[in-house]
Amino acid sequence: MLEIKDLVKSYGDGQPVLKGLNFSTGDKKLTAVIGSSGAGKSTMLRCINRLVTADSGEILLDGVDMLKLRGKELQYARRKIGMIFQAYNLVDRLTVMENVLSGRLGYVPFLKGALRKFPQEDIDRAYQLLKRVGLSQYVNKRSDELSGGERQRVGVARALMQNPQILLADEPTASLDPKTSERIMELIARLTDELHLPVLINLHNVAQAKHYAARIVGLRDGVMVFDGKPDELTDEHLELIYTGKDELNEQLHPEGESEE
Ligand SMILES: Nc1ncnc2c1ncn2[C@@H]1O[C@H](COP(=O)(O)OP(=O)(O)O)[C@@H](O)[C@H]1O
Ligand SMILES: [Mg+2]
Repeated sequence: MLEIKDLVKSYGDGQPVLKGLNFSTGDKKLTAVIGSSGAGKSTMLRCINRLVTADSGEILLDGVDMLKLRGKELQYARRKIGMIFQAYNLVDRLTVMENVLSGRLGYVPFLKGALRKFPQEDIDRAYQLLKRVGLSQYVNKRSDELSGGERQRVGVARALMQNPQILLADEPTASLDPKTSERIMELIARLTDELHLPVLINLHNVAQAKHYAARIVGLRDGVMVFDGKPDELTDEHLELIYTGKDELNEQLHPEGESEE
């Protein structure tokens, strides 16, 4: 169960990028986060797994506030959160197997020498996952010899290797051609459904969000302006999510209702 309460995040001395976000999900289903570039989608995911530190608010994962954790506790908690990146974030000079095994450690810098320490059951599990993402034949290949789609399959297997309680994906298909992009979305949707994992996925492709997600959240200038089922997302909502600031203010504070 993930609960975000009044989350505020700014970078440096700038204006807040997230302006008091509230969101919760306990459902083992796929939630898509949509919104223009700069809306704060990546920042929201990075706050959840503490790749950046929020200014204020709470991020409760099974009741534990991620924002209050330090050191080993934080490291442990982060392992419960799988992460899939747009740019795959694989270690190029390592093999596919090594990259997947590194998921066991969470997303921390990984040294080749550490590989020896993995127990056989981890190696067996990595094989299983590589089979499930369709890469059995590439186990010992170097990651930089793979295509983009194959790299992202490694990214998916690595995230699942953590045995996460929730999976976050930041535009996982944005660097891929349309056909490969669909395949990766299908893979993420199928595997997370089989594993009963809640998934929070940033997508710039609204059609994909509507097709694969059970729930869609619309982010706009650091504020959530839509939260509903795909078939509840109308063209008006999309305008609200994607168009100019003035229009948004008008939508949020219609004439006569402004808080003066
Ligand atoms: N590391 C950073 N330092 C300073 N500003 C940042 C940083 N990361 C993101 N921002 C700013 O925060 C805002 C939201 O960015 P981001 O979360 O990446 O949005 P999205 O993923 O929706 O495109 C943007 O204005 C962006 O320029
Ligand atoms: Mg982003």
